[in-house]
Amino acid sequence: MGDPLSRLTKLREQIRHHEEQYYIHNSPEVSDEAFDRLLHQLERLEAEHPDLVTPDSPTQRVAGRPTDSFPTVAHLAPMLSLDNAYDEADLRAFDERVRKGAGLGDTAVPYVAELKIDGLSIALTYEGGSLVRGATRGDGRRGEDVTANVRTIRAIPLVLRNGPAGRVEVRGEVFLPRAAFARMNAEREAEGEPLFANPRNAAAGTMRNLDPALVARRRLAAFTYQLVMPDADGPQRHGETLAAMAAWGLPVEPHHEHCAGIDDVIAFCRTWADTRLQLDFDTDGVVIKVDDLRLRERLGTTAKFPRWATAFKFPAQQAHTKLLRIDVNVGRTGANTPYAVLEPVLVAGSTISMATLHNAEDLARKDLREGDTVVIEKAGDVIPRVVAPVLALRPAGSVPWTIPTTCRACGSDLHRDEEEVVWRCENTACPARLRRGLEHFASRSAMNIEGLGESLVDQLIEKRLVADFADLYHLRAEELGSLVVMPRAPRSDRALPRKLGKVGRNVVEQIDRSRSNDLSRLVYALGIRHVGEKVAGTLARYFRTMDALLDATVDTLQQAPEIGPIVAASVRSFAEEPHNRTVIRKLADAGVNTVSLQPAFAAVPAGPLTGKTFVLTGTLATMTREEAAAAIERLGGRVSGSVSRKTAGVVVGEEAGSKLDKARALGIQLLSEEDFRALILGEES
Ligand code: IVH
Repeated sequence: MGDPLSRLTKLREQIRHHEEQYYIHNSPEVSDEAFDRLLHQLERLEAEHPDLVTPDSPTQRVAGRPTDSFPTVAHLAPMLSLDNAYDEADLRAFDERVRKGAGLGDTAVPYVAELKIDGLSIALTYEGGSLVRGATRGDGRRGEDVTANVRTIRAIPLVLRNGPAGRVEVRGEVFLPRAAFARMNAEREAEGEPLFANPRNAAAGTMRNLDPALVARRRLAAFTYQLVMPDADGPQRHGETLAAMAAWGLPVEPHHEHCAGIDDVIAFCRTWADTRLQLDFDTDGVVIKVDDLRLRERLGTTAKFPRWATAFKFPAQQAHTKLLRIDVNVGRTGANTPYAVLEPVLVAGSTISMATLHNAEDLARKDLREGDTVVIEKAGDVIPRVVAPVLALRPAGSVPWTIPTTCRACGSDLHRDEEEVVWRCENTACPARLRRGLEHFASRSAMNIEGLGESLVDQLIEKRLVADFADLYHLRAEELGSLVVMPRAPRSDRALPRKLGKVGRNVVEQIDRSRSNDLSRLVYALGIRHVGEKVAGTLARYFRTMDALLDATVDTLQQAPEIGPIVAASVRSFAEEPHNRTVIRKLADAGVNTVSLQPAFAAVPAGPLTGKTFVLTGTLATMTREEAAAAIERLGGRVSGSVSRKTAGVVVGEEAGSKLDKARALGIQLLSEEDFRALILGEES
């Protein structure tokens, strides 16, 4: 077994190894479960030996709590930006300047060509091999200290493996992989929140979020590409620097190439102009850097740019086209979202005839009008967007666009919450909401009814066979068999619509099978705002039955693990809507399972605090929030995020906020840190 310290060290090394395999090399060697097991093992061991917990431990990535702002910090050396090259001639001119500056005449200069990651730059400071600071670029001289957020990025090592002993600054780019971006936007859509326009914006927004726990969930990634003030005895070439950084465990983008001269560089740029679209992250160019570090020093910098590097920008994936019409799409949560209907145009190999417009505010800001010629843009596999109108080409007499005040699909009045940008239809019987709602209900992570796709849902609604979720459970195979399937993209005249026949019977079987799904699927399938898959799972496991969930008050809802006030309020308002109650009763009558098949949450061991719920607020001087919570749970108590009448006590630390006010208002017992320590020590001894 070994002594605790060597077991801890070994586990930490194993975990870092798997983080590297997963987050840097994209080739995991173990399953997620196996990785989580290692992490839990480490957590347990650290709980037994709290004195051996160091800030470098992989369990300490998400530490610290939400802050109000980021302090600014000075960079070791200014973070310069790069001069741009847009075509072969620009690249040759850059090479010419380098050769001239180096006095090399016609001799080819070796370069390293790297992909230019489209994210936001970051400066990481390591001292004695440990990550001590992460800062944004800011104005180039001073940036914002975002260390707590940077630490949550698993690609970034908290400790360098055999790294330099002194202080080094490593620079790189933080970005959101496309898959993580798609997942995040899908979740936001499922929860009725506005979407991010592209991975870059999402990454930038995430990095500036004040809550490290949220940042951790977004799955940012990073690549590093520069060492500031490298050691005089260290590598003499950039290629070697990258190799050394990779060996220390830093994430280095693997597609960089050594180029013997500018011809190789040009070939690299040509290859990657298209190949980059297959990568899982956005790139906007190639960075070309002189390989020889001494030569770099001789070349020096201008006020803004280094003379030894340039950025080749890929030809913009933009085009001009006509904005024919602005239409409105109605989503599952009733959100009325405008989109652009465009004169079809070819961009980066595909024809675009529609583009998202996000929301009415964004549209008004850009002042897009029907009839405008607009610039549209496509970034990788991201949905195309309208960048701006070309004002010089605006037709006379055009008028600003305003969002209709009534729902596009059912004509009900639209409403907008004060803090939101989205206009919503609140009519639960709105046909567009029903259509999207049914698609969601049947989707794989919800009730998983295979075959019940868009076209079938449309026909069921049109033929008035289905007016709510419960009607699905009364469909007969004959009814479905007579519906038709439209071929998706008819390639020839022979591709005619055909009768659903056997497929229809299969759908009825699938619907029948879904009756016995676990409650968590049903809770998710109902499409309650802010209730994604994970939250639905928690609610089902905690409340056990649909009835208990529907009867839960906002306070009781918040007693469930990780359920906060927003989800609680949303579930409550869903439960209070009579139409929803009726549909759920109909579902139960049709034999749909409404009880949890999952094990209940492990009962909290009985102890002196059993049955009592505590709330922590403010900063405690002698322990972290996690330690305080663990102490309460060890004694059988529970910790909740919000104060209610049922709260047994509120532990008040420094700079306590609104929870303290609420506790005072409700007359809940307040415990100072000293009281609290006395309570837990008294009870524990
Ligand atoms: S080197 C002194 N290499 O592009 C130059 N930059 O337009 C240091 N970027 O601020 C930058 N990928 O945020 C370098 N492989 C790469 C890069 C890269 C993305 C960003 C970086 C920089 C910006 C300049």
